[in-house]
Amino acid sequence: MSSSSSRPSLASKSPIGVFDSGIGGLTVAHAISRAMPAEPISYFGDTAHMPYGDRSPELVQSWSVRIAEHLVSNGCKAIVIACNSASATAAEAVRDAVGPAVPVIDVITPVAAQVAAGEARRIGVIGTRATVGSGVYGRCLRDAMAHQLGGASGRSVEEWATPLLAPLIEEGWHEHALMEPVIAAYLEAAGWSADKLDALIPGCTHYPLALDALRKVLGPGVELVNGPDIVAAAVAQRLADSGLLSTSGSTTHHRFAVSDLTPSFADSARRFFGSGIQLDRDALWD
Ligand code: DGL
Repeated sequence: MSSSSSRPSLASKSPIGVFDSGIGGLTVAHAISRAMPAEPISYFGDTAHMPYGDRSPELVQSWSVRIAEHLVSNGCKAIVIACNSASATAAEAVRDAVGPAVPVIDVITPVAAQVAAGEARRIGVIGTRATVGSGVYGRCLRDAMAHQLGGASGRSVEEWATPLLAPLIEEGWHEHALMEPVIAAYLEAAGWSADKLDALIPGCTHYPLALDALRKVLGPGVELVNGPDIVAAAVAQRLADSGLLSTSGSTTHHRFAVSDLTPSFADSARRFFGSGIQLDRDALWD
């Protein structure tokens, strides 16, 4: 556990630390910057170790804890685990490591709460093997439904691993003709058709880039849950509740760091966040 005496004091002007296995979490960082333009962001993408989705929970946990401690010791006032695979396996360990003074927001709990509060009865979740294998979406959704009027009765949650999607999106192929048949093949393997689902949770931070392809395959009748916007709203709420929300600041400076920097990561980062993003290399693992 980090010693609080070695940390800079938490102030509302301090950055929000956001981390992911790589650059997928930039979809969440982008939503946070749209929702809270006065908030500086310090982003860490662990490109040296991605994909987390195929790693053991123990490894993802140890990397996530180390990254969160690194962000906090660099002055971050809150941590956003912008990776479903890390949220599924490491959220508790990260909370324990940074201590109660630093809000930690994962990308699964707020999404499950919002979907459970909605009307969808038949809910599908897609994600990496780590996320789906953990069964965490099912548990969170059923817990959250238990607090709704009528509970979980008559509602179902099914999860299916779609490990080919993140690499295709990373490759810039989210609009490629190949995307739709791959999605269709996964949905068929899961036994899901548009008339069998009310809502689909794209449970990987890469998938927001593939919403058009998912929409084309599923048609207009299935709600596609917008994870990054829900998470950004949850971050705003937690910061406000903790007295850490920044209300001023006209020139917001973000920092984007990755543990391994290659031209292809720099290209992908522009797709995930928008042009103008400058990636630096962080020597955390050296
Ligand atoms: N961004 C990660 C997630 O949300 C997927 C990529 C990976 O496997 O590292 O799970």
